[in-house]
This record gives sequence, C-alpha cells and structure tokens, in this order.
Amino acid sequence: MKQQLGGPVQRFHGAITLADRMRLLHQKPVTIWLTGLSGAGKSTIAFELERQLVSQGRACYVLDGDNVRHGLGSDLDFDQHDRHENIRRVAHVAQLMNDAGLIVITALISPTQADRTMARDIVGADKFVEIYLSAPFAVCARRDPKGLYAKALAGEIRSFTGVSAPYEAPLDPDITIDTATLTPAESVAGIFRYLHEHCLAQQA
Ligand code: ADX
Repeated sequence: MKQQLGGPVQRFHGAITLADRMRLLHQKPVTIWLTGLSGAGKSTIAFELERQLVSQGRACYVLDGDNVRHGLGSDLDFDQHDRHENIRRVAHVAQLMNDAGLIVITALISPTQADRTMARDIVGADKFVEIYLSAPFAVCARRDPKGLYAKALAGEIRSFTGVSAPYEAPLDPDITIDTATLTPAESVAGIFRYLHEHCLAQQA
C-alpha cells in the first residue's frame, strides 16, 4: 500500500512560466523519442543530434537507456513490468526537462506500442516526436556492438529484445530512418530536415 504523507499532494505553480523559459532559451522544447532494437544506432544518432543542436546554440540533453539504467533505473530489470517502469520514469524526466525549456532526445529501445503511447501521453502529444530507427534484427545482430546478441543467442541473457523478448515496430511514427542503409550522418540529416520543418522553426 502506498502511503500519502500530509494528505493529498497538490501542484504548486511558480511565477516563471514555460513561455518565460522559451524566451530565455530562444527555443521550443520538444522530446525526440528514438525507438529501435539494440544496435539500431539510437545512442550514436542521439549524441550526434545533440552535438549538432548544441553547436547551433540550442539547449539539449540526451536521456540514453544504458546511461539512465546506471542511476534512475538501477533497480530495474528487463522484464515487461520493469521496462514499462523504466520508460515511465524517463518520460517523466523528459517532461520535466521540456518544462524547464530543454530539447530532450531519448534513446530507449521502448519495445511496445503501449509504452510509447504512455510516453507520448506523459510528455504531451504536442511536444513528442517519435522516430523509428528501423534496422532489422539480422543487421543489429550482425553489428552486435556490445556482444550482447551473441550472449542472448547463446541463452546467456534472459528477455533480450528481438531474441527472447518482443519488439513491436511503431505503427505511425513521425519519421522512420532506415539505419541499415543510411550512415549516422545521413540519418541525423534526415531527422534535422524534419525538425526544421516541424519543430525548430517555431522558436520563441
Ligand atoms: S527498454 O526496453 O527499457 O527501453 P533500455 O533502452 O533502457 O531498454 O536498455 C537497453 C540497453 O540495455 C541495450 O542497449 C543493451 O545495451 C542493454 N541490455 C541489457 N540487457 C538487455 C535485454 N535483456 N534486452 C535489451 N537490452 C538489454
């Protein structure tokens, strides 16, 4: 049973609004939600996107699955329940960072449609850009940058996405980037084109 100390929790609103923060930072905050298999290129693309956004003077931060699981999600495993909780926490952090005016890029497998819908609901549909990095299983398993596919296929890792746990491709992503055929630079350029047309142009 959850305990609630001091009665129902109410929101407190400070004097500074999101509009104030947008004017301060000269940007519209969004959450760029990357999804795809391990090895699809999420971290590579997220950090390159961040580098280019920062070099253009935009305040931006990457919430990377592997990094976040060292702290915020260090108590979580990879079963369905814990992945859901991992994604829920990261979505709330992204929402808070957006509220602080930052552009957020997340790099989580986020394997189910239901959990990505939850993330969109937490962040707010008007700030959420879903990007599917569509490299197929065979390509990711061949790349195997962390040696995890070899271990998973040998039965040494339980519930590994694409091997012994499901990955549901997004039904209606804002962008699909084929990282099996595009280089990281080409992938980032494609995302930039979309962001400039749909998000970044609407600066405060
Ligand atoms: S998610 O499913 O909850 O969104 P998340 O993106 O945080 O996953 O973590 C994925 C990373 O954890 C992978 O890139 C990989 O390095 C590592 N990992 C360790 N065990 C697993 C597993 N069983 N399934 C998938 N990734 C795993």
